[in-house]
Amino acid sequence: MDPNRDNPIIRFTTFWWALGAFLIFALLLAVILLFNRKPAQTLEDAAARPRYEIKAKVDATQVESLPPEKIEAAMPAVAAKLAASKPAAVEKPEQVIPGTPTAEKLASAPPADTSVVDAPAADPNEPIDPAVMEFGKAQYMLCAACHGQNAEGTPIAPPLAESEWVTGPASNLIRIQLRGLTGPITVKGTEYNFPGGMVAMAYQTDEQIASVLTYVRNSFGNKAPAVKPEQVAALRSEVGKPQLTVEDLVKP
Ligand code: HEC
Repeated sequence: MDPNRDNPIIRFTTFWWALGAFLIFALLLAVILLFNRKPAQTLEDAAARPRYEIKAKVDATQVESLPPEKIEAAMPAVAAKLAASKPAAVEKPEQVIPGTPTAEKLASAPPADTSVVDAPAADPNEPIDPAVMEFGKAQYMLCAACHGQNAEGTPIAPPLAESEWVTGPASNLIRIQLRGLTGPITVKGTEYNFPGGMVAMAYQTDEQIASVLTYVRNSFGNKAPAVKPEQVAALRSEVGKPQLTVEDLVKP
C-alpha cells in the first residue's frame, strides 16, 4: 500500500497540479487554434470577388456612357420603329407561306404527273432492306402520335393498318406527306373526316419520307413494294400546294 495515497495534503496538491496541467494544455490548444484560423475560402469564393468588382466596374462605365435617362428618352422612337417594321417572311423550298404569291402560283399549278411514280415496280416481290425498315420505324414515332402505336387509328386520325390507301399507289402516300390531306376519306369501309385533317410534313428528307412509307407499307399487316427516295424527289414540286382532298388522289 502506498502511504502517499492516504495523505490528504499530497492528494490535495496532486489535484491542483493536474488541474494546472490541464489548463495549460487547453490554453495552448486555444492559442494554436486562434492563430491558425484561416478564412474558409473555396475557389468559388475566390472567383466571386473579382467577378463582383468587374461587374461593378462595367455597370459604372455603362451608366456613365449611356445613362438610363438617355435610354428612356430614346425608347419612344425605337418602339415606334419596331412596331412599324414587319417580320420578313422567309420562304424555303420545303416551307411555303400561305397567302404569298408563291403559294398562289403553286395552288394554280397543274397537278404533278404521278404516272412515273406509280409505274409498277420492276420486281414487286423485291425484299425490303432491313436498314430502311429500321430507319422508317424510327420515323414512324411521328405518325404514331396521331395514327396510333400500332397504326390502329385514334380519335384524331384514321388507321394505317390494312388501309387500302397505304398499300395503294405510292404517289398518294408521298403527296399526302408533301401536302397534307383534308376532308372526308373512307378507310377500310369507314368514312372519316377530321377537322383540319393531316398537315403537310414536307420538311422531312426524301430518304425519311421513303423509309417511313416503306415501313408503314410493310408493317401492321400491310404488304406493298418499298417507296424509293427518287420517287419522293420526283414529286417535290407538290410542296407548298394546298392540302389534298380525296379527289386529288389516285383511287387505290
Ligand atoms: C397531326 C396528326 C397526324 C400525323 C402526325 C400524321 N397523320 Fe396521317 N393523317 C392524319 C389525319 C387527320 C388524316 C385524315 C385526313 C382527312 O381527314 O382527310 C390522315 C391520313 C393519313 C393517310 C390516308 C388515310 C389512311 O388512313 O390511310 C395516310 C396514308 C397517312 N395519314 C399517313 C401518315 C404517315 C405515314 C405519317 C407519319 C409520317 C402521318 N400520317 C402522320 C393525321 C396525322
